[in-house]
Amino acid sequence: MTAAATTPVVPADAKAIAEAARILLAGGLVAFPTETVYGLGADATNGTAVARLYAAKGRPSFNPLIAHVHDLPSAHRLAIFDAAAERLAAAFWPGPLTLVLRKSAACPVSELATAGLDSIAVRMPSHPVARDLLRMVGRPIVAPSANRSGRLSPTTAEHVLAELGGRIDLIIDGGPAQVGVESTIVALLDGPMLLRPGGLAREEIERVLGRELAPAPPGEVDPEAPLSPGMLASHYAPRARLRLNADSVEAGEALLAFGPKLARGAERAARVLNLSPSGDLVEAAANLFSDLRMLDAAGVASIAVMPIPNEGLGEAINDRLARGAAPRG
Ligand code: TXA
Ligand code: MG
Repeated sequence: MTAAATTPVVPADAKAIAEAARILLAGGLVAFPTETVYGLGADATNGTAVARLYAAKGRPSFNPLIAHVHDLPSAHRLAIFDAAAERLAAAFWPGPLTLVLRKSAACPVSELATAGLDSIAVRMPSHPVARDLLRMVGRPIVAPSANRSGRLSPTTAEHVLAELGGRIDLIIDGGPAQVGVESTIVALLDGPMLLRPGGLAREEIERVLGRELAPAPPGEVDPEAPLSPGMLASHYAPRARLRLNADSVEAGEALLAFGPKLARGAERAARVLNLSPSGDLVEAAANLFSDLRMLDAAGVASIAVMPIPNEGLGEAINDRLARGAAPRG
């Protein structure tokens, strides 16, 4: 890889995007903003580039990647869209929704990126920088969250630098990611299934489909037959232990609060951050990873996390918190 000792971080102007496209087409790795979290991009059709990407993240290679596309015709080249897929794409793309579909026969995406599955995850992001980059590259770009495997997803260019500086070629800084949690992943293989709650609320998807999303199979996914290996138990983990649904703070703990009324003993907390003082779940999602990083940096052994309502984006927030709290493997 051509990455220098420390990776350049450049503001997201036309020159930077052209440079990023050039690097990607040459098989390099570029981190760029999307509306959900920052992604680490590689040319999806270049197996060597995809292998470098797995190495930079330290990611188990059975964990397949999302192919990002600029427009619907590009998506149609990768996957087979049934009526439900067309309906969801029309309603929510570009935006924070990933569809897992049957791979098309002519799909140009590297087998390594799809981990040899006969399905493929496809997403059309809405962030203008991601869209410009996809248009300039003219090929699908695989982009996992731009963090080391198993760590918190980055929502700023600074986070990316801390995770991957020196391991990748370029970081494009487009400011903080707006949504703050990863895309919602829906599989449309045998009936619609919610593989990962995320930046698009389940309720909105169910409204458009006119039916409920089946839940993903519980527990850890068999690595031999990955359905959504992002569901591996300990994922999105900070260093500190997370103590969930806390209504009080213990001595020495940091507090991750939600809503206007703080948990008992908040004055004891080593540090307090509030995901949303007004109790807004959209604002809370946008702050989640960044607040967890900041509390983690305070060096506490435990972070008390107040209860978050499990509706709308609260489902994605609670999913990430539960994984962050899971026993480490
Ligand atoms: O918001 C997002 O989706 C971000 C931004 C950068 O676009 N990307 C992201 O990628 O979160 P990543 O690699 O961190 O998560 C992708 C998830 C993984 O859990 C993976 O297992 C799942 O998608 N996945 C990919 N292909 C799949 C497939 N064919 N079947 C089931 N799950 C799949
Ligand atoms: Mg990730």
